[in-house]
Amino acid sequence: MFDPKEIRKDFPILEKKIHGRPLIYFDNTATTQKPRQVIEAIVDFYTKHYANVHRGLHTLSQEASQLYEEAHEVLAKFINAYSWEEIVFCNNTTDAINIIAYGWGLKHLREGDEIVITVMDHHSNMLPWRNVAKLTGAKIKYVDITDEGYLDYEDLEKKITEKTKVVAFPVMSNVLGTINDVKRIVKLAHSVGAIVVADGAQSVPHMPTDVRAMNVDFLAFSGHKMLGPTGTGVLWGRKDILEDMMPFKVGGDTIKDVTLDNVIWHDLPWRFEAGTPNIAGGVGLAEAAKYLMRLGMENVRAHEKELVAYTLKRFDELGDDVLLTGPRNPEHRGGVISFNVKDLHHHVVGQALDLFGIAVRTGMHCAHPLHYRLGLKGTVRASYYIYNTKEEIDIFIDALKEIIKMRPSLKKMKEGMTDLICTGT
Ligand code: ALA
Repeated sequence: MFDPKEIRKDFPILEKKIHGRPLIYFDNTATTQKPRQVIEAIVDFYTKHYANVHRGLHTLSQEASQLYEEAHEVLAKFINAYSWEEIVFCNNTTDAINIIAYGWGLKHLREGDEIVITVMDHHSNMLPWRNVAKLTGAKIKYVDITDEGYLDYEDLEKKITEKTKVVAFPVMSNVLGTINDVKRIVKLAHSVGAIVVADGAQSVPHMPTDVRAMNVDFLAFSGHKMLGPTGTGVLWGRKDILEDMMPFKVGGDTIKDVTLDNVIWHDLPWRFEAGTPNIAGGVGLAEAAKYLMRLGMENVRAHEKELVAYTLKRFDELGDDVLLTGPRNPEHRGGVISFNVKDLHHHVVGQALDLFGIAVRTGMHCAHPLHYRLGLKGTVRASYYIYNTKEEIDIFIDALKEIIKMRPSLKKMKEGMTDLICTGT
């Protein structure tokens, strides 16, 4: 049975108090907390099995290599990949998309080709393509959103043409929470022979993922957003497409043989995992995936849908004092609520919520073009995961009511605020 109150017992950090109040962690889109099972798997690995992988015939290296390879198998199962060889471990979603954009793009894109991305993309699925477009002479085209916060599918149909070689999009927006229609996008993209790159950073941790059913060509996601350690991520690609890519980061462990004139690349996935990898991170990530599979990703999605429906209903009580972004239908929306309190700077609201023990992210969430499209300088973002509860949402709504009451005094704080913006991922 999926019971958030039981799940919470696995997360030591949730016992922490912030300003004397129980921590309410609503910053799960940025990164998630770690259960003791993941923490213990990493400690166990370093305590009993640690050595470098693929480089030693000694027992410890064999043990470490086996655990690291098994971790790839677990992640393959998690997303229903055809084979573990299609699972490339990397640092995070940004890293995965850079490997795709440079590795596939530099080899296959030419002047006059077009890359279609969306205005709701995170910078990680925008900037690598823009750089590769500059290097190859390809052109970027952006698909707009509707006023309700959905992808504008009519615009998508116009933007995809015979010249389109890549269509890249987020399965779920990290700001609007919008869950995009993968099948519709893939059908259009494949009808002109384009490859499809899905940014799964916000979808893979929160809903069932089946790369065979999605029929995309690449999927990128981060380990740290799905209970795993930081510095872990996955690039999944169809085997034939991965084999037809240029390894972008090269060096140790990417080769079978090197002479002064030639190089024979290693088998998949190792040719894309340059240098000593984050071995303990991979082992921890596999433990995170096992934890989520035990819970059942259908149950994770159902829980978050319930939390979003409840939040949207309770936000109605705040009336015009709160300006909400994104679709109003929880069927099409993940557990992400980005909003502003009327007449208050988003950073002021975020800092005030922190005084209630509530951790949210404020700013543009690495999606500046999307905020400019919405006509906003930033938003306050609450984002949920498996350990969040309706009781926490009640405390959040009460806190927002208090903040609205204190608005006249809080408004004065705006003047002195530094406009902090995201410089990271
Ligand atoms: N991509 C992460 C976020 O949206 C960091 O917060």
